[in-house]
Amino acid sequence: MLDSLPPPDWQDPEGRVFLYKGDCREILARLPEGFADAVVTDPPYGIGEAAKNNKSRSCLAASKDYGIRHWDDSPPPPKSFEEMRRVSHEQVVFGGNYFAHLLGPTSSWIIWDKDNGKNDFADCEIAWTSHKRAIRKITWRWQGFLQEPGHPREQRQHPTQKPLGVMRWVIERYTEQGSVVLDPFMGSGTTGVAAVNFGRRFVGIEVEQDYFDIAVLRIADALSLTNAHVVSNKRPNVSRVSNNAPSDTPLLDEIARREAEGTQ
Ligand SMILES: C[S@@+](CC[C@H](N)C(=O)[O-])C[C@H]1O[C@@H](n2cnc3c(N)ncnc32)[C@H](O)[C@@H]1O
Repeated sequence: MLDSLPPPDWQDPEGRVFLYKGDCREILARLPEGFADAVVTDPPYGIGEAAKNNKSRSCLAASKDYGIRHWDDSPPPPKSFEEMRRVSHEQVVFGGNYFAHLLGPTSSWIIWDKDNGKNDFADCEIAWTSHKRAIRKITWRWQGFLQEPGHPREQRQHPTQKPLGVMRWVIERYTEQGSVVLDPFMGSGTTGVAAVNFGRRFVGIEVEQDYFDIAVLRIADALSLTNAHVVSNKRPNVSRVSNNAPSDTPLLDEIARREAEGTQ
């Protein structure tokens, strides 16, 4: 199925995951009609989140500073939504409330209740879906160092990273076993990790090199690939993602450790 796509910048040995580093406005135009069963994505909302210093509005803890970027200064153009529909059969779009004028009415919103206590952050995020279903809700705590209890703690490597638990919930319920999932705004690759966790094939696109590199490492880790494969296929820049605390990807830590020791 993925054989019909243009050569990716990274793929796994079995051809289940294709990742493109580039602008999805250009790459989507090269992808065939209807090749993906589902788009599951979290586009820029156009609210300047990446240009904030992300210091906490909560009194609980200081947030990580991800630096100033501009990818969230404007939302994707209408053409990108047309392209997502052209290349896929179903769509789940986080931040759908920002794009409702482009996506149209639906019976099938997803409400993510962040269960984040008393602060001035939004209580919920909303995803638009093309499905013909009732509105569904997932509660998953995600605010600063507060994360859903009873699940492995996640290392945040992207300023608007989604919790893996939320994306797993979406993939399990809104896509089929073995189907092809596309995320044209993949960021740190959370959709891709969730997709491979549930035996889906995955195509991801990301314009920023360091986020792309993080996505490669996280998805390779989810596929249990060896360091050698990741590095030989396309060597990610691990130094930029390994400056901070230990990550939630043992593979990433291992590559960073070897690089620091000069053994790679
Ligand atoms: C909201 S973030 C996605 C975060 C992701 N859900 C995660 O868990 O890491 C949107 C991403 O889209 C990327 N992006 C913005 N414009 C893009 C474009 N034209 N083509 C590809 N990626 C783009 C940004 O760099 C950013 O990483």
